[in-house]
Amino acid sequence: MAVSHVSKAADWKQSVVYQIYPRSFCDSNGDGIGDLPGITSKLDYLQALGVDVVWLSPVYRSPNDDNGYDISDYRAIMDEFGSMADFDTMLEGMHARGIRLMMDLVVNHTSDEHPWFQQARQSRDNPYHDYYIWRDMPTDGSLPNNWEAAFSGSVWEPNPATGEYYLHMFSKKQPDLNWENPKVRQEVYALMRFWLDKGVDGFRMDVINMISKPAGLPDAPVIRGGHLQPSFGMVTNGPRLLEFLREMKAQALDGYDTITVGEAPLATIQQGVDITNAQTGALNMLFQFEHMDLDAIPGDGRGKWALRPLALTDLKASMSRWQNALWQTGWNSLYLSNHDQPRPVSRWGDDGVHRVASAKMLATFLHGLQGTPYVYQGEELGMTNARFACIEDYRDIETLNMYREAVQDRHEAPAEVLARIYVKSRDNARTPMQWDATTHGGFTTGTPWMQTNPNHAEVNAAQARDDADSVWHYYRRLIALRKQLPVLVEGRYALLQPEDPNVYAYTRALGGEVLLVVCNFTPHEQAFVLPAHVAFETQELLIANYAVNAADSVRACTLRPFEARMHVLR
Ligand code: NOJ
Repeated sequence: MAVSHVSKAADWKQSVVYQIYPRSFCDSNGDGIGDLPGITSKLDYLQALGVDVVWLSPVYRSPNDDNGYDISDYRAIMDEFGSMADFDTMLEGMHARGIRLMMDLVVNHTSDEHPWFQQARQSRDNPYHDYYIWRDMPTDGSLPNNWEAAFSGSVWEPNPATGEYYLHMFSKKQPDLNWENPKVRQEVYALMRFWLDKGVDGFRMDVINMISKPAGLPDAPVIRGGHLQPSFGMVTNGPRLLEFLREMKAQALDGYDTITVGEAPLATIQQGVDITNAQTGALNMLFQFEHMDLDAIPGDGRGKWALRPLALTDLKASMSRWQNALWQTGWNSLYLSNHDQPRPVSRWGDDGVHRVASAKMLATFLHGLQGTPYVYQGEELGMTNARFACIEDYRDIETLNMYREAVQDRHEAPAEVLARIYVKSRDNARTPMQWDATTHGGFTTGTPWMQTNPNHAEVNAAQARDDADSVWHYYRRLIALRKQLPVLVEGRYALLQPEDPNVYAYTRALGGEVLLVVCNFTPHEQAFVLPAHVAFETQELLIANYAVNAADSVRACTLRPFEARMHVLR
């Protein structure tokens, strides 16, 4: 294969990002919790995989109500994770290997233990009071509006000292910052510059499209009578969102060579274009959620827990809309996995007999698209969902609150609630990284903060690196391909056969080259016929998850269970 250098696109467009969830990555001191020296000890592993950037979930000081997404000091390292010296060593180690570091910037809210909030809650005339969002507490006990928080219950929590409620879109220990206050924005930009001056290379911005709240915080539309209502729709496209992001770019990012991605629940395509447009936007890319919401019943008040099977035609329609709309107007991030989502192989593949084939197929599908691919720790091993026998084995606040509400308040059968948890809990992705077949998967010599998935005996990094046919080596080869083929970075996407419910096939075209990606999303054989309009003279198979006979036709073939092929046609 001809190797050429991709030179036109910006660096981050050619990059592959690896997400580390530090609590579950590698524990160096036997306390059962992953830490920064643990990450440093695995940098050679990341380099061997070939990733260019690490996104590190929060490592700042935190009381850990939401595993670090509740920050009490933005300029200190969480005690369990190590020291600032450990951080500097880790960053140096990354840079020495050509790996850039994106920090997690969590500034829609702080911890209630942050000194700003500790001050703010004392009195209405405290200088920090206006750093947060308050409403008077009526004597009749009524709530300021009908919004439900992400982790159950109302978004409003009483603060007796001031006779007010404060707003928290997530847990009551995560009060929302008031971005209308210019002092808050200056604090955020200053802490961003603090980390950029230390040498970090950018930010993943937590729920960044929620920072601008609508005037008056009006009630959300009622979709469940007699309940609180889903509230994200009210805050994910606030009137000053773009203004705030552009100000942030001008005051905190310009002048540094950064890579940025904004987490954006319910993002619309228009928001995607507005925010990621290179001329008029503010961030390099967004994490949009449309494809993550396809297996939840639309408009159901139970949100992500209202399960329905994924229809492949829906996935095609959604991905294709984003691929087409952001073509030359913005840039996509590509992900199937992170610390908030179940494992893709359990969700959209098969975590039983076809685990390896389906993990590779999903990787082929994702990495062939236009955008910057993200690999979440363990995805490169084909790690699967956990199925713990009892609720006591779970740790995630969202999961535990949902279980309590369902079982205690609504008297639902525990087994049924656990069944939903097996499919959708965030803890599915948070079990410790499986490094080897030893006790606790080599994650810790102590007792892990959450149990290791029992399948670590078969599914682990040591095994995967020894097996040339493993999911790990497949990811390594896919990542390397991106560096060699401009069409993977820049080629224009076109969907083939939108109505086919089993096979997802698409092309990417650049100059005289066409990349063809064909993925069987089912455990059954499927016939594939290439539409006649895709013309070519020669073809080369770039990567596939089964042995493909050289004489096998690109024009028509039978795909084996979860088979995936990527060809270049010329
Ligand atoms: C999104 C993060 O990814 C998630 O883990 C967290 O709970 C919420 N934002 C709140 O910060």
